[in-house]
Amino acid sequence: MLSKDLEAYFAANTTAARDELFELLRIPSVSARSEHNADTARAADWVAQSLSGIGFKTTVHPTAGHPVVVGEWRKAPKGAQTILIYGHYDVQPAEPLELWNSPPFEPAIRDGKIFARGSVDDKGQLYLHIKALAAHLSARGTLPVNVIVLAEGEEEVGSEHLAEFIESHTDLLRCDGVVISDSAMYAPGQPSILSSLRGLAYFEIEVVGPASDLHSGIYGGAVMNPAMALARILATMHDANGHIAIPGFYDKVRDWGDAARKQVRSLPFDDEHFRAETGSPALFGEQGYSTLERLWMRPTCEVNGLLSGYTGEGAKTVLPSKAMAKVSCRLVPDQSPEEIEKLMRAHVERVAPKGVTATVKHLHGGRAWRADLNGPLFDAARRALASAFDREPVITGEGGSIPVVGDFQRVLGAPVLLVGFGLPGENAHAPNEWMSEENYYQGMRAMAALWDELGK
Ligand code: BES
Ligand code: ZN
Repeated sequence: MLSKDLEAYFAANTTAARDELFELLRIPSVSARSEHNADTARAADWVAQSLSGIGFKTTVHPTAGHPVVVGEWRKAPKGAQTILIYGHYDVQPAEPLELWNSPPFEPAIRDGKIFARGSVDDKGQLYLHIKALAAHLSARGTLPVNVIVLAEGEEEVGSEHLAEFIESHTDLLRCDGVVISDSAMYAPGQPSILSSLRGLAYFEIEVVGPASDLHSGIYGGAVMNPAMALARILATMHDANGHIAIPGFYDKVRDWGDAARKQVRSLPFDDEHFRAETGSPALFGEQGYSTLERLWMRPTCEVNGLLSGYTGEGAKTVLPSKAMAKVSCRLVPDQSPEEIEKLMRAHVERVAPKGVTATVKHLHGGRAWRADLNGPLFDAARRALASAFDREPVITGEGGSIPVVGDFQRVLGAPVLLVGFGLPGENAHAPNEWMSEENYYQGMRAMAALWDELGK
């Protein structure tokens, strides 16, 4: 049970918690787009002000990219732990806009869902932490633990400057544990603790042929077509069984062990329900693995985008001079983005047809992560989640990536607790992103309970 004073705070602050989040959601802090740089900076300031407003000492640190906001509250009783809460205030681009049922930066609630770009990824999950801290500070004037809040603005573009920031601010960020809410619960009402994330290696492959676009009648058939060449390159990346065919790709994949496989199999999972959620006519993946294993325990190689030739209305008989593909690989332990980059380059070089030049650019990457779910932070989280949701948490994995998790663990030597409040089908990165309003409030209560548990 959450203590009465905190419950009273949340009961009295429901509307404020929603309205304040809406203010943050109205700021289009799209980190990938330079035309939104001022908005992204405004979101950083908004987060900083909200932290100052509840009594945190707050600094907005400029970086070569978007700013890092750090808030500190270090007045806990002697001997108390110090916890770092990480979240991101940047969001993915909202396009294609025409597919949104309400404008992405005008938050709206329908069917208990808060619709807006960034509602669940990650503004709602960041702000629920700030409200949980506010509850303690407002109801009691104090917190049972020292807290550092670190909010970054480059998560959605690969956290390019964050590892460097952490490395150069170890004194400021030193802590006994890191808490992150930037993932989803396994099912509605089912609190979840995350035990793994996949890593990422993101590439741009460009294929160049003739010096300019050509008439496909005058020249077609006598020169290599870059779009066809790119298609051929991409087609070599998997075999018919969904196995990745880039030589050496699986060399560093560590066996997860029977315990992990058993853990995954113990979760209820319905392929048909999952298929329906995706809207795909059928599921497809690497043979020999279940859907959850494919999602959490196996690496991938996916095309994220393709560009070439004429794509407008009607027909144009053209032989394009170039073609480009965005290709990314989700990685698992112990694959490294640097090694995958080498393998990808060598592979593309080997399979690229004659008559074009193919180049591979590595955009960004990060390693996969697996938690050791032992220790006081995880025990406290189990109890706090069980008390807020009235149900024992389950241990899950995720196929997504949060590259900075590994940096926290490596540089600060602190355990990282990933406890997310999103839900399956939340449309993160897609049109009509939403966060469950109930989870927003339950998440606050759970995190307020966590601080109490850690103070015991
Ligand atoms: N919140 C996600 C990470 C995530 C996704 C966690 C799914 C759990 C499940 C995060 O904002 C994100 O989208 N990360 C990017 C990282 C990339 C840009 C380096 C991702 O996974 O694509
Ligand atoms: Zn995201």
